[in-house]
Amino acid sequence: MTEQGVDLSRYLRHGAKITENGSDDWQTPRIIYEVLNKRFRFTRDAAATAENSHCLKWWSREDNALLMDWTQEKSIFCNPPYSKVAEFLAKAHEPETAVFLIPFRPQTGFFLRYVWASPYLHEMMIIHRGMRFIHPERSDSVRSPMPVVVLVYHNKPRERDLLITVKCADTLKPLHVVAGQRPGHPLEHGHSIRDQIIQEHQRGASVADLVKKYEGKVSRRSVYRWLK
Ligand SMILES: C[S@@+](CC[C@H](N)C(=O)[O-])C[C@H]1O[C@@H](n2cnc3c(N)ncnc32)[C@H](O)[C@@H]1O
Repeated sequence: MTEQGVDLSRYLRHGAKITENGSDDWQTPRIIYEVLNKRFRFTRDAAATAENSHCLKWWSREDNALLMDWTQEKSIFCNPPYSKVAEFLAKAHEPETAVFLIPFRPQTGFFLRYVWASPYLHEMMIIHRGMRFIHPERSDSVRSPMPVVVLVYHNKPRERDLLITVKCADTLKPLHVVAGQRPGHPLEHGHSIRDQIIQEHQRGASVADLVKKYEGKVSRRSVYRWLK
């Protein structure tokens, strides 16, 4: 099935795998969690098991996070079971900070209600390329064809424009600012060159080689900042 050149059958197969074959358990890539944790210092993983929790404190299916009091939490990380994304998002504005990793489905009702129309959403990071989720039973990762987004909520309504960026799926480095750019901080380089350098590094090129290859186009400092 194709629509405007997009292979939807791939997308649908992946969706079916997650919601119908009981695979609500795909795990967040460690590096993605670590980048977010460095900034948000998470105090609880809101959707986890003892085996896959990223934090010392977590809520499991048995606890049922949806029945818990999120208002007492400082900073929640949540990659929810994809069959219950809307129910989890309904609680996103309760803790001081909540960071969600969810499918990017901007056409849906839950997205309109809990994302586009939420005054508590402060930042949206649209993920470029598929994220390499970790298989629930094995240790290998799969680059998902399903588009995903990271959402940052606070318990106070935002007073400035929603910041919307496009981030690299492997590093979470910014590739492009779509809206809400803070004045005085434009990105120095375009998205394609950043993405190109990050992907070459992912495929094995050393930082030194890339500094040399892009000499004159991108400063040594920028290459180091994107890759280290
Ligand atoms: C997509 S996985 C995320 C796993 C892991 N925390 C991560 O981010 O890598 C969703 C997890 O939520 C758990 N879960 C399912 N229903 C839940 C509920 N009602 N309350 C809390 N956790 C739940 C599942 O067992 C699963 O481990």
